[in-house]
Amino acid sequence: MPIEIARAKPLVTPDSNPGDPAFLKIRDLIYRISGIYHSEEKLYLLSSRCARRMAALRVTSPAEYFEHLTMRGNRDVELRLLLNEITIGETYMFRHPCQLDALRNVILPQILQVKGLISLKRLRFWCAGCSTGEEPHTLAMFLLEEKDKLLAGWTFDILATDLNDNSLEAARAGIYGEYALRSTSDAMRRKYFKDVGDKKLQANDLLKAPIHFDRINLRDDSKMLFQKGIDIIFCCNVLIYFDLASKRRVVQHFYSNLLPGGYLFMGSAESLFQVDDSFRLVHFPGTTAYWKATPAQAGGGKK
Ligand SMILES: C[S@@+](CC[C@H](N)C(=O)[O-])C[C@H]1O[C@@H](n2cnc3c(N)ncnc32)[C@H](O)[C@@H]1O
Repeated sequence: MPIEIARAKPLVTPDSNPGDPAFLKIRDLIYRISGIYHSEEKLYLLSSRCARRMAALRVTSPAEYFEHLTMRGNRDVELRLLLNEITIGETYMFRHPCQLDALRNVILPQILQVKGLISLKRLRFWCAGCSTGEEPHTLAMFLLEEKDKLLAGWTFDILATDLNDNSLEAARAGIYGEYALRSTSDAMRRKYFKDVGDKKLQANDLLKAPIHFDRINLRDDSKMLFQKGIDIIFCCNVLIYFDLASKRRVVQHFYSNLLPGGYLFMGSAESLFQVDDSFRLVHFPGTTAYWKATPAQAGGGKK
């Protein structure tokens, strides 16, 4: 039988010189869509990520690739694929243990007291920029451990969102290796995971149940306006990639997404200094959080 050799397009080496003006246009497009800003020194990162997509499309010039992102029929799909390449998803379980201590010792008792006065005993958490799911799974473990103690009589759910489709797919599968689990105790591993071989553990149904994953771009105002009634938002190590204007916009959304009395947690190297003055900074052992005071607690202040 004759062997048919597929007539493949010749392999191309994309021109990924970060100095090419088309990369500045791509940089501005990515910024407008996602809030992620590549300064001049970081353009080499953008160009190397574009090079992967350009190679996949067998496109040689950045100008032609810009056309794929803006004018061709599949531009929305291509933009999403490029965003999947660009975002940085570094994360692991129990990355911010001091935040959990602050929740247990101060924040949850305070919120439960205020909300306990109304009949609906439900708490809503949002992990914005959850990457491959380690943060919401950590939060779910923490809340499940408190279910019969601090949270007796309460229900809770966790909205976990990201921009990156590949990360969300991995988060939904909930399969993790030692790198992600390195700070997770044996007791937690036994209780909330099952062994799926190849030195991997998968979140069990108990752990998955409170989490709902969704794709939300933090720069998408229409989606951001829709998220309401949240008690606590975690947006850790996400806004570090944003410029000041995009940060401000996202943080203003968070302020209106939160219920009065709610809290916003950010990463340990992040702060809202000169970004926003609606929230009040609260210090806890080993961490800080931003508090949206209730009108009574704010003493009739402006917000
Ligand atoms: C470094 S990870 C942080 C993961 C986790 N929050 C933590 O602290 O361990 C940053 C995440 O932010 C997401 N991200 C970046 N820009 C975003 C945007 N505009 N909307 C939603 N998610 C975004 C990335 O896809 C990435 O998964």
